[in-house]
Amino acid sequence: MGYRIVVAGATGNVGREVLAILAEREFPIAELAAVASSRSQGEEIEIGDTGRTVKCQNIENFDWAGWDMAIFAIGSDATAIHAPRAAAAGCTVIDNSSLYRMDPDVPLIVPEVNPDAIDGYTAKNIIANPNCSTAQMVVALKPLHDAAGVKRVIVSTYQSVSGAGKAGMDELWNQTRQIFVGDEKDVQKFTKQIAFNVIPHIDKFLDDGSTKEEWKMVVETKKILDPKVKVTATCVRVPVFVGHSESVNVEFDKELSAEQAQDILREAPGVMLVDKREDGGYVTPVECVGDYATFVSRVRDDSTVDNGLAFWCVSDNLRKGAALNAVQIAELLGRRHLKKG
Ligand SMILES: NC(=O)c1ccc[n+]([C@@H]2O[C@H](COP(=O)([O-])OP(=O)(O)OC[C@H]3O[C@@H](n4cnc5c(N)ncnc54)[C@H](OP(=O)(O)O)[C@@H]3O)[C@@H](O)[C@H]2O)c1
Repeated sequence: MGYRIVVAGATGNVGREVLAILAEREFPIAELAAVASSRSQGEEIEIGDTGRTVKCQNIENFDWAGWDMAIFAIGSDATAIHAPRAAAAGCTVIDNSSLYRMDPDVPLIVPEVNPDAIDGYTAKNIIANPNCSTAQMVVALKPLHDAAGVKRVIVSTYQSVSGAGKAGMDELWNQTRQIFVGDEKDVQKFTKQIAFNVIPHIDKFLDDGSTKEEWKMVVETKKILDPKVKVTATCVRVPVFVGHSESVNVEFDKELSAEQAQDILREAPGVMLVDKREDGGYVTPVECVGDYATFVSRVRDDSTVDNGLAFWCVSDNLRKGAALNAVQIAELLGRRHLKKG
């Protein structure tokens, strides 16, 4: 008994993590298919560290009929072509791209935060997965919002290069090597040198001077957590391979002390509080790789505003920021809506 499930983009950073996490969490699978572009047709893709592989098929001529669900991680352009075909054939799409996130007929889900919104998926047979930076932030904010009402959030991100796909990781690796051996630096994927540097620019610029990545954090947080919450974001790419970090300042409706927030976060689903006020008593991105949790550290009062709090939060962007959240959505969809075949 299980589902017939497709992983689209199975050769990519997120797709490979999806395969690994489906196996780790023993997702009930009756049949598994892996698809990607024609370039990858026939490639044997490892399923995590199970020792098993799955042969990659060409998405162009894949027949979606009879499949229960598909986790898509192929970018917006290819998703625009293939997701409607899959959804129309009766295969529910769980999409990692930004294409459908703000579509009013598509639920945008973080299972720890707004699981009930999934019921709206029937309008298009598509469910959206949020941006990686939004996902980890709302997991940390949700229990605090329930306790004291989040009014305004100021967030600065420190986003790893894996958020820009395989090509982003290759560019950091190659530039680091080029700098060490004195070769000319290749700048292709990012707008400036990323090795030994930080870049305050992710995705394209918008008319108001913000970037699309920053806009995504604003509108997605409203859609998932609460439309009343105000967010201002600065998104920065840093030379870290995997793991996004965020410095978050929050203004609440009601008073919430750092100690009360720590007690709440200690019990919150999806959150791991690591907060000792001593050397190393906090989490850094290298420590979160391969983990499911959103780690919260450095919780402290912010006395510059009424009812203010500051914290640091870190998560594996390929997991909670993408693949894990998508698999959690698949689990939720199965529990609530789809019968196992
Ligand atoms: N990385 C993150 O932290 C993160 C977080 C949230 C959401 N996302 C989203 O997830 C998606 C994938 O990201 P990624 O980091 O996994 O990128 P990636 O490592 O560059 O992988 C891209 C995947 O898409 C496939 N693909 C590209 N063009 C295609 C086409 N025309 N038709 C079918 N498949 C195609 C590639 O297949 P080939 O190998 O055959 O080219 C590969 O499997 C993107 O929409 C991204 O925005 C990523």
